[in-house]
Amino acid sequence: GKGNYRHFMEKELHEHPIVLGDTLRQYIDPASRAAALPALPFDPATVPRLTMSACGSAYLAAQVGRYWIEQIARIPVDSDIASELRYREPVLPEGGAALFVSQSGETADTLAALRLLRSLGQKVLSIVNVDESSMARESDGAVLTVAGPEIGVASTKAFTAQLAVLACLALGFGRARGVLDGAEEARLTAALLEVPGHAAALLEDSTEVLELAREVVQARDVLFLGRGSLYPIALEGALKLKELSYIHAEGYAAGEMKHGPIALIDASVPVIALCPSGPLFEKTASNLQEAAARGGRIMAFTDAEGAPALRRFAERVVVLPTVDPFVAPILHAIPVQLLAYHVAILKGTDVDQPRNLAKAVTVE
Ligand code: F6R
Repeated sequence: GKGNYRHFMEKELHEHPIVLGDTLRQYIDPASRAAALPALPFDPATVPRLTMSACGSAYLAAQVGRYWIEQIARIPVDSDIASELRYREPVLPEGGAALFVSQSGETADTLAALRLLRSLGQKVLSIVNVDESSMARESDGAVLTVAGPEIGVASTKAFTAQLAVLACLALGFGRARGVLDGAEEARLTAALLEVPGHAAALLEDSTEVLELAREVVQARDVLFLGRGSLYPIALEGALKLKELSYIHAEGYAAGEMKHGPIALIDASVPVIALCPSGPLFEKTASNLQEAAARGGRIMAFTDAEGAPALRRFAERVVVLPTVDPFVAPILHAIPVQLLAYHVAILKGTDVDQPRNLAKAVTVE
């Protein structure tokens, strides 16, 4: 049941800390402070390339996973939405492996892409939340997210659990390939293990996100911007806002703004920026400043280190806990989901069952 919550989505948003903790404890060994992966159907030390695929939010989790696996494990990764992968006649390397991500394990396009790549000789690993699902059964190996049942149609806790698993895979792959040393792995697992506590703190007081929602609910169009691993989270913010509130939203890589979307910018379009401190901060901030100079209303999520620079031109700055840049996408996913939830509540839409959507899309 929903317990004391008004909606399943609200309940599931509040389960982020527990689900992240349970999932991370499953795939991190606290004693060695190293990733502890189950047996894999391919050898990450020698696999020539990974193909990652999924649909919707699960695909966006895979996109973050791609950035992590390339950066940390130096494995070439190709990724595509499943409905494209299955028909684009992909060129696959001999001995390659494929990773499919799905909450339900039943999404028709993802399952079809999985079957296709397996039939073409790729070793298939799936990251699923339902261990009896078709994808889990038909893969060469499965890694489970420990999110528990997700009832709300829009994915919330399953999404962050997917990120947690992908982060652990990236670390395990990096070690297997000899490109991640023990000290760095210990530092990164420590950063991961701090996320559940930060998530709890974020959820405890969502006043600022609610204030932001009051601005966003009046908009006809909203832009979400991020760079690097925050770019897929910008896409996730836009997807959640669209599906829950029916407000038109788009996610863009911040560096791509000047190649077109900047033409949309005026004072009626809120620009939600995901801009934590880290190697891409200055670049993102300068993209945002360009948008502000054209009358854009910048509303930024950042941390204590990033806040002063953004306050010079942003209308609103929401300060999140300071974390290692590696885990920033996991943390930022929570307020963008919360924002979509609050906007939808203000609009009075059905957050658990948005129009035209189904929890598992089992038709093509
Ligand atoms: C968005 C959402 C959908 C699903 C997508 C894939 O909030 O929930 O985009 O992520 O339909 O579903 P699964 O993960 O079950 O394959």
